[in-house]
Amino acid sequence: MESMIQTLPTQYRWAAELEVTEMPPAGSALVCGMGGSGISGDVAAAAAKGPVFVHKDFGLPAWAPSLPTPIVIAASYSGNTEETLSAVEAARSAGLPIAAVSSGGRLSELATDEGWPLISVPGGLQPRAAFGYLAGSVVRLIEAAGLAYETGLDEAASITATLLGEGLQGPGRRLADDLAEELAGRIAVLMGSGRTAVAAYRWKTQINENAKSPAFVSVLPEADHNEVEGWTTLGTALRRTVGVVMLRDDSEPPRVAARFQPTSLLLGGGATIVGEVWAQGTSRLARLASLAVVGDLVSLRLARMAGVDPVAVDAIQQLKQTLGES
Ligand code: PA5
Repeated sequence: MESMIQTLPTQYRWAAELEVTEMPPAGSALVCGMGGSGISGDVAAAAAKGPVFVHKDFGLPAWAPSLPTPIVIAASYSGNTEETLSAVEAARSAGLPIAAVSSGGRLSELATDEGWPLISVPGGLQPRAAFGYLAGSVVRLIEAAGLAYETGLDEAASITATLLGEGLQGPGRRLADDLAEELAGRIAVLMGSGRTAVAAYRWKTQINENAKSPAFVSVLPEADHNEVEGWTTLGTALRRTVGVVMLRDDSEPPRVAARFQPTSLLLGGGATIVGEVWAQGTSRLARLASLAVVGDLVSLRLARMAGVDPVAVDAIQQLKQTLGES
């Protein structure tokens, strides 16, 4: 997995240099995908100037056909994910335009047969290790549909390369190792808001899949209206078992930024506040990517400390086999 993470800058550059089929401008986009593929929709939505929605379920939301001149973007690394194929079928039945991102499988076959725009990403990786290919491709489709401010892919590549460093010995690694020391043996709670909530979700899923550990996302300002009450009574028991990392961006709206410190004081009554990680860069995508890559490194360090194989996802595969998906 470390060698796969090392290729992230190359993946962003690959996406930046893609020749994307011209598409008629769209008024909105609905990105359909699950897990390591579905997060590419969250990333694109966080970087978009127009309405980009994300759907992680079977079929389509009932309101999908009412979106203004929508494009449905199906993202599935394997191309065989049940929910994503079901969304594609629903979009086809509703007569909605479809574009696809995949490394093969049924989704690539369908897109080729139907003549839908298709971005074929390189295969042979775990979906979560193809984050740059998948998110970059969806961002490029959003751009082609006229819904992006800028892609930020070149900047995402250079910031990620700097943080990773030669042989994964860069500043991101040092930061990640320190955070992992505190998070080891604890359940991670990743707190973010807006764009940083997307990065928090990537941290959560990487800790789940690479380190085989539970992790949860807490989103501000909503958490101030419910979760803060939940940290008040268990005291030291939770402090030993829960570690909170706050993902920050100095472009947070001031009223959101003002909430992190008082919220952390409340959480600190019941959980260990491990630290803050700040976004770097200028473009929306680069700032998100700068946070995400630190989470990748934290998850790998946690996997090493726990002695687990970060690549294997036996539980996910077992479920897919049980459900007859692959
Ligand atoms: O990380 C994983 O392996 C999963 O989250 C998959 O991405 C998810 O099951 C969907 O599969 P795919 O990405 O092939 O559509």
